[in-house]
Amino acid sequence: MKYRNDPNIPPSEITPEPVYRARRQLMGLGLASPLLALAGCAGADDGAAAVAATSAGDSADGFRAADELTLLQDVTSYNNFYEFGTGKVDPSKNAHTLRPSPWSVVVGGEADITGTFTLEDFLGGNAVQDRIYRLRCVEGWSMVIPWQGIPLGDLLKRFKPNSRAKYVAFTTLADREQMPGIRWPVLDWPYREGLRIDEAMHPLSLIATGLYGQPLPNQNGAPLRLVVPWKYGFKSIKSIVRIDFTEDMPQTSWNMSQPSEYGFYSNVNPDVDHPRWSQRSERRIAGSASKLFAKRIDTLPFNGYANQVASLYSDMDLRKWF
Ligand code: MTE
Repeated sequence: MKYRNDPNIPPSEITPEPVYRARRQLMGLGLASPLLALAGCAGADDGAAAVAATSAGDSADGFRAADELTLLQDVTSYNNFYEFGTGKVDPSKNAHTLRPSPWSVVVGGEADITGTFTLEDFLGGNAVQDRIYRLRCVEGWSMVIPWQGIPLGDLLKRFKPNSRAKYVAFTTLADREQMPGIRWPVLDWPYREGLRIDEAMHPLSLIATGLYGQPLPNQNGAPLRLVVPWKYGFKSIKSIVRIDFTEDMPQTSWNMSQPSEYGFYSNVNPDVDHPRWSQRSERRIAGSASKLFAKRIDTLPFNGYANQVASLYSDMDLRKWF
């Protein structure tokens, strides 16, 4: 294998995947936080037959995917983070120059409370939760990642968005000194993303601060990144420095760059092809057979989270609003 462990993580701190799995099984038996125990019960005994559009075995709230996990080594060495280069291994090689601490987040726009907040103040002492989410990249590969983070809605509510706040816009750091890739005009920097306010407030939308039980590695978007599991991976913006509540739909990097290929919503949808390739199936990078022998599996509507999120779009033509 040509991939190496992340140089930022001492080998002693890496939890081998089987150890991590075993720990999670203990948690599922109720030996961890009440929240985890509850999620475990909901998944185990609700007995509901999986509807076609939803992945079988997930917890009913969607917080814990039942799929086989992607190895930590693959999660941290096969990345998209164009600020550190456009190759999949570039972020793991180059992101050591990112300084995730100290960090601050600017909150602006249509809210009663705005300003610049230290990372600690922004997170506001909310309890960190465990989630296992599928991440489906628009390029056609996918992973299953155990995240630690705080529901985005819990964070946003504290800033008291007003009635004009219809959307939430996110911005990544753009610092030439820390990010060698932004010398190249592959995107109009800084990287920008956005959500409708009801999407942002949905309990599945997460601000991740860690994965596999360790602080977020730089190449995965340290110190805080968005994870929206029912949308293509590019919506899950990394290393966020600014959040604005807006009345109008915000501009987003990939939509600005190729509007015919990347819409604002970007919900995972096997029925709507990317103009240059099909979205019917995906290469699932998971387990020890990762990458070289990755299995091709069918892509599910909303990435298998239709039960939880389809109602957000019930009155919309998803071919038009791709
Ligand atoms: N965020 C920023 N700032 N820059 C990026 O290039 N790439 C996106 C998203 N967030 C990207 C980003 C894409 S295309 C994907 S698929 C995911 O990050 C990949 O996340 P991962 O590397 O943690 O798997």
